[in-house]
Amino acid sequence: MTRKALTATTILIIGLAASICSGEAKPAQVDDAALRNAASAPDEWITIGRDYAETRFSPLRQINSSNVARLGLAWSYDPGSLRGLEATPLVANGVLYATSDWSNVFALDARTGRELWRWDAKADRIRGYRACCDVVNRGVALYKGKVYVGVIDGRLAALDAATGTLRWEVQTTPVDEPYTITGAPRVVDGKVIIGNGGSELGVRGFVSAYDAETGKLIWRFYTVPGDPAKGFENEDMRKAAETWTGEWWKNGGGGGTAWDSFAYDPDAKLLYVGTGNGSAWDRSLRSPGGGDNLYLSSIVALHVETGRVAWYYQTTPGDQWDYTAVQQMTLADLQIGGRTRKVIMQAPKNGFFYVLDRLTGELLSAEPYAKVTWAKGVDLKTGRPIETRQARYGDKAVMLSPGPGGAHNWHPMSFNPNTGLVYIPAIESSFTYVRERDFRRVPGFWNMGIDLAARGNSAQYPALPESEYEPGTGPEVGAASSLLAWDPVAAKPRWRIKHEATGGGTLTTAGNLVFQGLSDGRFVAYTADTGAKLWEVQLGNGIMAAPGTYFLDGKQYVSVLVGWGGASGLYAPNPTQQYKAPGRLFTFVLDGEAKLEPVRGIERPPLTPIEYNSTPAEVERGATIFGRRCSMCHGIAAVSGGAIADLRYALPATYDSFDQIVRQGAYQALGMPKFDFLSEADVAAVKSYLLFRRKELMDGAR
Ligand code: HEC
Repeated sequence: MTRKALTATTILIIGLAASICSGEAKPAQVDDAALRNAASAPDEWITIGRDYAETRFSPLRQINSSNVARLGLAWSYDPGSLRGLEATPLVANGVLYATSDWSNVFALDARTGRELWRWDAKADRIRGYRACCDVVNRGVALYKGKVYVGVIDGRLAALDAATGTLRWEVQTTPVDEPYTITGAPRVVDGKVIIGNGGSELGVRGFVSAYDAETGKLIWRFYTVPGDPAKGFENEDMRKAAETWTGEWWKNGGGGGTAWDSFAYDPDAKLLYVGTGNGSAWDRSLRSPGGGDNLYLSSIVALHVETGRVAWYYQTTPGDQWDYTAVQQMTLADLQIGGRTRKVIMQAPKNGFFYVLDRLTGELLSAEPYAKVTWAKGVDLKTGRPIETRQARYGDKAVMLSPGPGGAHNWHPMSFNPNTGLVYIPAIESSFTYVRERDFRRVPGFWNMGIDLAARGNSAQYPALPESEYEPGTGPEVGAASSLLAWDPVAAKPRWRIKHEATGGGTLTTAGNLVFQGLSDGRFVAYTADTGAKLWEVQLGNGIMAAPGTYFLDGKQYVSVLVGWGGASGLYAPNPTQQYKAPGRLFTFVLDGEAKLEPVRGIERPPLTPIEYNSTPAEVERGATIFGRRCSMCHGIAAVSGGAIADLRYALPATYDSFDQIVRQGAYQALGMPKFDFLSEADVAAVKSYLLFRRKELMDGAR
């Protein structure tokens, strides 16, 4: 070896040692300071809403309105899922973290999509049927070398960010009750915040704060009061109980589950919690003497150290329509009335866009951002909605807008401080609400107290006559989806792009862009100021999730999860016309040259005729039972959304073992409930209905 070569080696070694000692090779920590400064650190995406204010705004501008048409595929990744995908990927230290169905987590090299590790949550499949709206998950939280995920069966798990090994896990919910977790945790003030879902089945909602290091419970905030005889947990619960009547704790637990959004103001040390609908949906079944039923459908500001209420604002007092206020809450400083106001903004399901002072809860504006017929407006003095006279449905079927899917659901909105606009995946919808006749609770099942299968004008459910509706808010059937650019200062829309399909979550950037995926598989970029469409690509399967963006080694990437499912994905037909289709993560970059292969659906099973003979009355009875008990997973009128089997295509052998599957629980391990409370005759009627629908399909109907 020559002297020269030796020197070079020595220099290399010294260099390496120096870089290790200086800490260059050690990844930066996602800690409190990093989370607090996330908004002004453009390269990474370290918390689900990108920053504590949940803006989903990226200051990156390499990809911008003048060059976005050059976007091409950088890489794609198959997470091995056939169900709905709703997560926004997080990126820190060159690693991308996201979740797939059944709360499984994966970590990838953010440059190449190479898998670094996967964590199988091994969620109990039987719990799958406690999930009202698919076994989805909306993402992870990062903090000091750990990745946190809420599991569908109620666990909260902390994984090693480098290896994916489990560091600790806790069961956050009572195992014998129908709770589920689909929302992403947030880490604030060293605490992991996690909520849960289950109001459709009947639970008492709560939010928990766990020590991020140890998993020890620090506080728990119940969103509704419990049994007064057991004593209230605190003054907040005692006050809330004054707004309830009857024995709500026995009749479904009240609901109010905080299953999605949180936001945090680190200066005020306030954690904002969005709470869910009542359980049962029909107020007369849970609180027969009326009442506002706090803290249902509210934005609740909690002191982060104690989990106690600082202020609350109830968007829908005495909710009766599944109008949750769990939708994204975004914090901003806006110029309103000549003053800078620290605000919190929300477009909850009920159709009004709210701007509140986030320190005091003072209502600043509330204007409809979609068609609303349950209320004529919101009284700014009292802060209360002015309900229309038809809104509180009873035994007559009433058509109202929005429907229970909401004018905006969990699909994230985004706020661009440069344009001052909020980009909302907005929905126009209507729904027939009616109290379920002869309602009886079935513990662990859907217990809304309204009939999903009611269509109005039937002998069972006569429709409310049109003359009894408030003038100008009559019964109208309608469904439309749009990307809505809302001006929160003027409290009105700036522009709107109408979609044929349903829009997913949004991302906005300093490059004057808004990105949105659609249920028909298109991923689209618009200008943020005017909504001009600049670029689109077909990815082959429905998109619900919001995209994210990050910057690595001189390149900006945009990443989005594709995968159809969720509430509407189970209930409504798949817009891409796929029979089950896999999920995929697609990542784009300027001039990306990877070959784009859209997701391809699984081939439909062959349709062979199956003999059946049953009367039209039997088929009709089966249709009603199917609508009430099966449509939420197997699709309206038995046309599957694609995530769960389309029963019209079931094999003859499956029909032979229909009773074993449906009543005896043979497929529980796949997430198919055991309907042992249905009679043999009920299940036979459902089978007749399905065979009838199969024959219709074979005869050419859809
Ligand atoms: C909570 C969701 C859910 C509900 C509600 C539900 N199912 Fe299922 N069902 C499933 C899942 C999950 C599977 C497993 C197959 C799959 O994943 O596609 C399944 C499978 C089945 C199968 C077997 C299909 C095949 O081709 O192998 C039948 C039959 C079936 N369900 C009937 C029913 C009937 C009848 C009802 C209403 C009484 C019902 N299901 C309600 C989730 C549900």
